[in-house]
Amino acid sequence: MKIIMMGAPGAGKGTHAKEISKKYCIPHISTGDILREEVQKNTDLGKTAKSYMDIGKLLPDDIIIKIVKKRLQKDDCKKGYLFDGFPRTIRQAELLDTISDLEAVIYLKCQDDLIIKRLTGRRISRDGKIYNIYFDPPPPGVDVYQRDDDNEEIIKERLKVFYDTFTPLMDFYKKKNIFFEVNGDGGREVVLENIFKILDGI
Ligand code: AP5
Repeated sequence: MKIIMMGAPGAGKGTHAKEISKKYCIPHISTGDILREEVQKNTDLGKTAKSYMDIGKLLPDDIIIKIVKKRLQKDDCKKGYLFDGFPRTIRQAELLDTISDLEAVIYLKCQDDLIIKRLTGRRISRDGKIYNIYFDPPPPGVDVYQRDDDNEEIIKERLKVFYDTFTPLMDFYKKKNIFFEVNGDGGREVVLENIFKILDGI
């Protein structure tokens, strides 16, 4: 299965992608996670990525396209994959179109005020599990950290960038009849159940 998770920052892409990836046995490819790993390792790519991520802007398409092409060459992508945070521009979508036969784009629609609460409350454990101090607090003793871009000022910029780029992407995938909208405002179980209903029908 070849899927894209689309949605504003904090809509729940990463949270639900982990469960979808488990159920359908496909790799979860998050361009944001790949970039954060590079930042962590302090590579040249990481230094470049940080300069964009810290201000909530998108990295140049050429950099992202190179990363994605390399990742898709790995053996685990042979049976399918789930993108989270990619594509984010029409150029990225057009490139993907030349190398992939996508089956579904799941768009998680979410209200902005909920997004702010989700992102300011997000905490992540060292093994990548996503928690939330308001909705799903980390158990006592679990060491968690907060992403550098999860502060209100940068969240607002990330949201603006999302709304500036989303409509053409939505139109692109609607024309291909593979665009599915899911209400992302509900609790995690309900949202996931609705995503599975769509994917099980494909
Ligand atoms: P990226 O890492 O992709 O971040 P994002 O799109 O801003 O999305 P998030 O990861 O913040 O949100 P999410 O939807 O995954 O939310 P989550 O599931 O964690 O990108 C970061 C940066 O990298 C970009 O700004 C850009 O600079 C760069 N970049 C990445 N890809 C790029 C690309 N393709 N091109 C150019 N630049 C790129 O959920 C959030 C919180 O809410 C969690 O605490 C979770 O527990 C909670 N939650 C989620 N769903 C629910 C629910 N249903 N009920 C209750 N709580 C919930």
